[in-house]
Amino acid sequence: MTRSMKWLGLLATTAIMVLLAFNIWREPARQTEAQHTYRATAIADGTTLYALYCATCHGAAGEGLNSYPALDQTFVRQQAIEVLYKLVARGHYGTDMVAFGLQDGGLLNRAQIENIITMIQHGSWETISEQVLAIGFNPSQSATNSDDFRTVYTAAEGNSIQTLEKGRGIFASVCAECHGPNGEGTADAPMLNSIYVQTMSADQLLSIINFGVSGTKMDTFRERFTLDEKAALIYLLQNWNGVAVAIAPSPTIDTSGVTVSGQVLFEKWCAPCHGVHGEGGSIAPQLNDVPPLSTEFIMTRVRTGKNAMPPFPLTDLPDPELMVLIAYAQSNIFGSSLPTLTEAELASAATLYQQQCAACHGLQGEGTAEQGPPLVKTPPLHANYISYFTRFGSANTPGIPANMVSDHDLQMIVAYLHSLGN
Ligand code: HEC
Ligand code: HEC
Ligand code: HEC
Ligand code: HEC
Repeated sequence: MTRSMKWLGLLATTAIMVLLAFNIWREPARQTEAQHTYRATAIADGTTLYALYCATCHGAAGEGLNSYPALDQTFVRQQAIEVLYKLVARGHYGTDMVAFGLQDGGLLNRAQIENIITMIQHGSWETISEQVLAIGFNPSQSATNSDDFRTVYTAAEGNSIQTLEKGRGIFASVCAECHGPNGEGTADAPMLNSIYVQTMSADQLLSIINFGVSGTKMDTFRERFTLDEKAALIYLLQNWNGVAVAIAPSPTIDTSGVTVSGQVLFEKWCAPCHGVHGEGGSIAPQLNDVPPLSTEFIMTRVRTGKNAMPPFPLTDLPDPELMVLIAYAQSNIFGSSLPTLTEAELASAATLYQQQCAACHGLQGEGTAEQGPPLVKTPPLHANYISYFTRFGSANTPGIPANMVSDHDLQMIVAYLHSLGN
């Protein structure tokens, strides 16, 4: 072997080694690149779907429109994929966040939902918003800082009487001059204590309060009130009848002329939807799994109706008959499926509650600022709702399985919570 051949060999070996090393070094990069391509496709698909299905509420840049939550936040990004998947596929019952999964009656299949989630977790909202706008969607500008509003509004729901009082104070000083002291309307402005306004969503009301109604005397109040004050006003607008309840004395209505029994009246007017024993039906909730609601609350609900429950006018059901009906329902229908606990059972139920729930929901079910909402409310939460929610949880909180809190214990806890409401 000549000297130069030796050199050549050495050079070749080195070259091979360098190439090998380079490729070994390159390999993970190549995999990452493949992942990136895959991810880029997912993000592109997710973006189109997002523009079609989500941007109207969550905004082109994920900033959250009106009072819908923003998605461009670290805590959303960092949620486990399964948590986000469950929320988008199944929705959050009782909010505008509907189920999008095919299995739950929505339009999106698994891969599509996963692509949207990949987009939420790995996309750049700046790029996404450019693409959403390029696709031709231009959701309106954000009206308010959504998350704060949500917190304030939820807090407001927890202590209803104070919130109503606060809302009424603001209403009296600012809105009453046009809408009348009790929201009954004046020549200048429409009535607000109507079923129509009561059933408007918080977002609709917020945008009216923030932006007014252009071309009318209805002013813009966006800068005038704090979030707290807006939440109180909205709470008032949605619960005018609660005001009557908080302020009006208990109705004293002469029932001596009524010849029909409460049972007959209940079966005629209420049982078709709520069931003969208040067991509920396909459109109306159970009434027998919640402690007796107050006379004022029931009267108001019957007179004003709500969503699928129609209002009952005086011509169908005069006040004296309604009073008789309510008295019957309070002693025979409401709460009739609930257990009655002895003092001793109630005491052990209190202990169970304190061990299992109080850390998050407060010692008296009043809720805590950070950990959990109030569980003692007016009107009270239904037993079945409490049990179902506790077992299955929501997108925001995991359920508590039977090996941690048995069915029996859960029933005790519910009874304890109901006893706190009275
Ligand atoms: C009609 C309005 C609306 C549409 C459309 C909508 N959402 Fe929502 N979304 C909501 C509301 C309201 C909430 C808050 C639910 C709650 O209170 O738990 C929410 C919550 C969320 C959250 C949780 C955010 C948080 O703060 O934890 C995610 C993630 C989400 N939506 C994703 C989507 C996706 C993805 C789409 C489209 C496939 C979509 N949403 C479409 C109204 C909407
Ligand atoms: C200067 C008079 C004026 C004042 C003050 C005023 N409003 Fe109005 N408001 C109106 C008029 C006029 C309308 C009807 C607009 C229209 O024609 O759609 C209206 C409409 C509304 C509506 C929509 C009602 C519906 O049936 O669509 C709401 C909700 C409302 N006002 C709330 C308020 C609240 C809350 C305040 C106090 C913060 C307030 N308004 C103060 C004049 C006023
Ligand atoms: C056409 C069907 C229908 C009839 C008839 C009906 N309701 Fe209802 N009721 C409903 C629906 C639906 C709801 C739930 C409304 C909601 O909150 O969206 C409801 C809710 C209620 C609630 C509130 C329960 C709660 O815990 O929130 C009360 C109280 C009530 N109804 C009492 C009555 C009484 C008393 C009668 C008879 C005078 C009656 N309803 C007749 C459909 C009906
Ligand atoms: C680690 C904290 C934590 C514990 C412990 C906990 N919860 Fe909750 N709970 C929450 C949070 C957070 C929510 C709100 C979730 C949401 O809105 O999606 C919630 C919501 C609820 C709701 C729904 C309230 C409503 O108004 O919709 C019920 C009912 C409930 N919890 C019952 C219970 C019961 C009963 C226990 C004890 C057996 C319990 N929880 C223990 C955190 C907790």
